[in-house]
Amino acid sequence: MARILITSGPTRQYLDPVRYITNASSGLMGASLAKAAIDAGHEVTIVSGPVHIDYPAQATVVPVISTEDMLAAAEEHFENCDGLIGVAAPCDYRPRRVEDHKIKKSGGPLVLHLIETPDIVATLGADKKDRWVVGFALETDDHRFRAITKLERKNCDLIILNEPSAMDSKDNHIQMLNCEGDVVLTTTGRKMEIAKEIFAVIDFRLIQN
Ligand code: C5P
Repeated sequence: MARILITSGPTRQYLDPVRYITNASSGLMGASLAKAAIDAGHEVTIVSGPVHIDYPAQATVVPVISTEDMLAAAEEHFENCDGLIGVAAPCDYRPRRVEDHKIKKSGGPLVLHLIETPDIVATLGADKKDRWVVGFALETDDHRFRAITKLERKNCDLIILNEPSAMDSKDNHIQMLNCEGDVVLTTTGRKMEIAKEIFAVIDFRLIQN
């Protein structure tokens, strides 16, 4: 039995008390992977941004809002886990300034100054020690090359490449790459179904070994 941390769903970065920027993510891939891991006999903690889906009842769910919250919760729980599956779509940018009051319309354009948020998978990957890390990559071009670059930069053991059509969809088409850049799994179908195939590879390559 392994203890697995899954980051899932989008995060929100507020501009003012009512407006935020976010990423398109339903949390369904995270929920599907959590179910596959639980069905295989593992213990799962999910750090999730705001979603409308239900996670498996057997998982411990830690709700968060922003990317900074997700990083803090993930760092805390990674301590007691054997590995991380980073399937969340954390918002990569945050407004430099968060207004206390709702920004009033002025009739003119509003210029936002955005700065990068921390990368959760890269931060946990940099200090993973004997734990394993699986990341996701969603690319619109140079798919394979960008995914391998990301795998190296984030110190992942495996990376799963999916396409923009996966967002907010029940279906997904993925390729899974290992550290050598070899494709170890290619599959298409319902997220619930392909999560079982993805998790079987993680279990075989990273947990049972
Ligand atoms: O760099 P990019 O966002 O495309 O990488 C995707 C992978 O990185 C996913 O595993 C995602 O969960 C993770 N990620 C993260 N923190 C961010 C951005 C992405 O953990 N701020």
